[in-house]
Amino acid sequence: MGKIVIAIDGYSGCGKSSTAKAVAKDLGFTYIDSGAMYRATTLHFLTNYLSPSNPHDVEKGLKSLEITFQINPDTRKQETYLNGLNVEDEIRTMRVSERVSEVATIKEIRKELVAQQQRLGRKKGVVMDGRDIGSVVFPDAELKIFMTADLETRAARRQQELLEKGELVDLEEIKKNLAERDRVDSSRAESPLTKMPDAIEIDTSKLAFAEQVAQIVGLAKEVI
Ligand code: C5P
Repeated sequence: MGKIVIAIDGYSGCGKSSTAKAVAKDLGFTYIDSGAMYRATTLHFLTNYLSPSNPHDVEKGLKSLEITFQINPDTRKQETYLNGLNVEDEIRTMRVSERVSEVATIKEIRKELVAQQQRLGRKKGVVMDGRDIGSVVFPDAELKIFMTADLETRAARRQQELLEKGELVDLEEIKKNLAERDRVDSSRAESPLTKMPDAIEIDTSKLAFAEQVAQIVGLAKEVI
C-alpha cells in the first residue's frame, strides 16, 4: 500500500484527534497531534512565566523547548513529552486550553512548530490533525478532511473526556472555551483555520465514531 499524507483540520473538540488516531491505526500510518505541540508550548510558557506577546520571551521559550512523542508500552497510546517530561495529561487541562489559542497566534511559534511538523511528516504515511495542516503544513496532502460538529455535541464530548481524566468542568465553561478558541483560531492573521477548497467536509454531529473513521479510511483507500 502506498503512503500518503492525510490532513485533518477543523474546529475545537469535534473529535479530530481520536478520529485521526483510529484512521492511522487502521492504515498502519503514524498519527501526529499538532494541537499537542501548541499545548506543550503553552505549558512551557506558563510554567516558566514567559509571555507569548513579548518577543524576547518567545525567543527564550523556543530555545528551551523540546517536544517529543513516545508510545506508552502499557496502553500503546502516544504521549507527549516536554523537555523529557510526560505532559500528556497536563496539556489537556483547562488551564492550558484557556491560553493555547493566544500562544498559537504568534508567528515565530507557528514557524518553529510547522517546521517540526513538516519534518515529522517528511516520509509520508502520516495522519496529522490541527487547524492549518491542509493549508500550511502540508498544502500538497493527498487527502484533506475538514471536520465539523455543532457546539453542543462538541462540548458534551469534551466534558466527558475531561471527566474521564478526573476534571469536572461546567458545560457552559467548556462551550465558552470552545467557541472562543474557534473565534481566535479562525480570525488570527497567521494561518487562520479555514476549509480548503480541496478539503472534504465531514459533519460528525450525528455520526457514530466508527462511521466517521470508516468514511475517512474509505476516502484514503481511493487515493492510495
Ligand atoms: O487540537 P487542539 O484542540 O488540541 O488544539 C489546541 C489549540 O492549538 C487550538 O485551539 C489552536 O489554537 C492551536 N492549534 C493551531 N494549529 C494547529 C493545531 C492546534 O493553531 N495545527
